[in-house]
Amino acid sequence: MTSTSESVLTQIPFFRYPHLFNQYRDETLAAMIDVMERGAFILQKDCADFERGIEQFLNVKHAIGVANGTDGLIIALRTAGVQPGDEVIVPSHTYVASAAAIHFVGAAPVLVDCLDDHLIDPDAVDAAVSSKTTCIMPIQLNGRTANMTALQQIADRHKLVIVEDAAQGLGSKFKGRNAGTFGVAAEFSLYPAKVLGCFGDGGLITTNDDRVAEKARLLRDHGRNDAGLVVSWGLNSRLDNLQAAILNVRLKHFHAEIERRRELARLYREGLGEVDELLLPPGPGDDPDHFDVYQNYEIEAARRDDLRAHLERDGVRTIIQWAGTPVHGFGLPGVRLTDLPRTRLLFERCFLLPMNTSLADDEIRYVCSSIRRFYGRAD
Ligand SMILES: Cc1ncc(COP(=O)(O)O)c(C=O)c1O
Repeated sequence: MTSTSESVLTQIPFFRYPHLFNQYRDETLAAMIDVMERGAFILQKDCADFERGIEQFLNVKHAIGVANGTDGLIIALRTAGVQPGDEVIVPSHTYVASAAAIHFVGAAPVLVDCLDDHLIDPDAVDAAVSSKTTCIMPIQLNGRTANMTALQQIADRHKLVIVEDAAQGLGSKFKGRNAGTFGVAAEFSLYPAKVLGCFGDGGLITTNDDRVAEKARLLRDHGRNDAGLVVSWGLNSRLDNLQAAILNVRLKHFHAEIERRRELARLYREGLGEVDELLLPPGPGDDPDHFDVYQNYEIEAARRDDLRAHLERDGVRTIIQWAGTPVHGFGLPGVRLTDLPRTRLLFERCFLLPMNTSLADDEIRYVCSSIRRFYGRAD
């Protein structure tokens, strides 16, 4: 249990970026200095160690470090065989990067609705399959893994591949199996605010398929094989070795980080569970099929905008994902405008409460009591 003084309670930012460094300051500095003294900047031991560490952590055959999550998605889609002209089914409640990656492989994103837990609705996926569909891209959103059994059944029935956008899902599980190990290929983002964040951009591709892994390794490094020979077209999308060294430090503490996030989610439920104007994310342990890591704490609230203004006055910063617009709302070329009723309702009501491991228990309690006061509940 951690606690904090009254003065800190007056200002709760959404995310404390300096905490990323300060948290494991000495270990991180030592790792960075070591890399720089060795002059080990591109595709060196630290990157390989990180990839092996992730393989072990996720129980997956291959992890491949890339420059960012968006590149990871583009490479994952290409290695999974998605072609120009194909359709890829993806929920509209996601970062534009998911749809952009589909666009940049020449395919079309077909946007579908979500369920009450804010993840892709398998029935909506089934209904959206056309003769052009080749791939389903579930988003392992907010640190929760979608119902992969239902999605795999649909994929099998229609002979589709699954590419997971697990940018927000590292460490989350469905039926005991890790996000990033279900699809033909998957991608993770290592952006600073992610559950496992580095000090800039970074990403990962994971797969259990040797051929997919080989293609992904070529694609991230100019199509060059181990001997340096160019055997295919490729990109420059390598995870920086310095970032990998930082991530190796953070990976050592990752189990504890996840446990802390789950504890914070428990505190939010304790403080807000009885406020029936709110819809909270499922609590940790509520459903044995899901192990959630709470990348975000996305709630739905009656009178959302007034509640956010009230929290702001109380010194609590909140945000709405994607600036409050799901992908189908941006009017991007090639994206069909569809009415997605659950997503529409969600975006009238959803926002994110602070959720990260810099937060003290008392800060969560402070946020909860501010919200209870807004709805006229006694403290
Ligand atoms: C769901 C989702 N997909 C893809 C991405 C893209 O990752 P990156 O910012 O590392 O390119 C993000 C990043 O926020 C994300 O949240």
